[in-house]
Amino acid sequence: MSNIILTGDRPTGKLHIGHYVGSLKRRVELQNTGDYDDIFIMIADAQALTDNADNPEKVRQNIVEVALDYLSCGLDPNVSTIFIQSMVPQLTELSFYYMNLVTVSRLQRNPTVKAEIQMRNFETSIPVGFFTYPISQAADITAFKATVVPVGEDQMPMIEQTKEIVHKFNYVYGETLVDPKIMLPDNKACLRLPGTDGSAKMSKSLGNCIYLSDSEEDVRKKIMSMFTDPTHLRVEDPGHVEGNPVFIYLDAFCRDEHFAEFWPEYQNLQEVKDHYTRGGLGDVKVKKFLNNVMQSELAPIRERRAQWEKDIPAVYEILKKGSERAESVAAQTLAEVREAMKINYFDDMALIKEQAERYK
Ligand code: TRP
Repeated sequence: MSNIILTGDRPTGKLHIGHYVGSLKRRVELQNTGDYDDIFIMIADAQALTDNADNPEKVRQNIVEVALDYLSCGLDPNVSTIFIQSMVPQLTELSFYYMNLVTVSRLQRNPTVKAEIQMRNFETSIPVGFFTYPISQAADITAFKATVVPVGEDQMPMIEQTKEIVHKFNYVYGETLVDPKIMLPDNKACLRLPGTDGSAKMSKSLGNCIYLSDSEEDVRKKIMSMFTDPTHLRVEDPGHVEGNPVFIYLDAFCRDEHFAEFWPEYQNLQEVKDHYTRGGLGDVKVKKFLNNVMQSELAPIRERRAQWEKDIPAVYEILKKGSERAESVAAQTLAEVREAMKINYFDDMALIKEQAERYK
């Protein structure tokens, strides 16, 4: 059987380092293993519109931002098909058929959707499109016969919903759809990077993100003013590394090689953590090291971004080509779905013959 990846992001903002360690970096690694027969990376504009219906301009503007972030992280359009969700209309049709296989109460139990409804104060007026986006996500995944879906843990309920739809569809209409597997990030620190202010999550509205498109100076400023351990007042005080965002970022980004290059007094992160915990190691030193580590990771991304920014029409051309290819793959799956559901009337010779017989 083939090995096919599908994943994507809502274009509601530029991507930040949380996206990078949580998913983008992994996608590029997966791409470069050469183990996959096909890789589809989707800019989920239609899904973004389910909770931004009144702000299409935001979605429109962020499509190119997300595409630039993808390309600058090393996604290669010759290997990975990068496409725009709404340019593949087959996804909408699949969603409509899958809706018959899901109950309202099942959708109501989706914990991620529940949390999002609360966050957006949708309780009394949930848009139907938003409520049903887990079904459209099942269409995204199955249209490309994805076997592997690399996503963050918050997407687990969507993959479960997809699997249920696949099982139900195959049971009712015959073996047609491919059952996908979720692939979660492997590094624990990468599951969720906190904001620079110590909040649980990076979010644009909190202004606590480090973006992949930030300049060197912006990154440095953001790191040097990061929240650390509030009980670590004087250098001599013992500090806490648990829950300290500076150390969480180091867990996510730093490798042993970085010490030889930037901080030869230590061999590895554990030694720094031990010193910080004992007391006698100041936050500024740790932040300076973090800045060096992050700059070395972000510099090549920034350089590639600057190159692509000079040729925006080429970026749109990549998206167009990718969307055309995605559409042809999705059209094939849709044809199989229609056949399984026996709604392929004009290709169904047996049906035409049967009806003709009946009227003889
Ligand atoms: N829900 C995903 C997000 O918010 C985006 C997405 C849409 C997606 N369709 C998908 C992810 C299919 C994986 C597979 O980031």
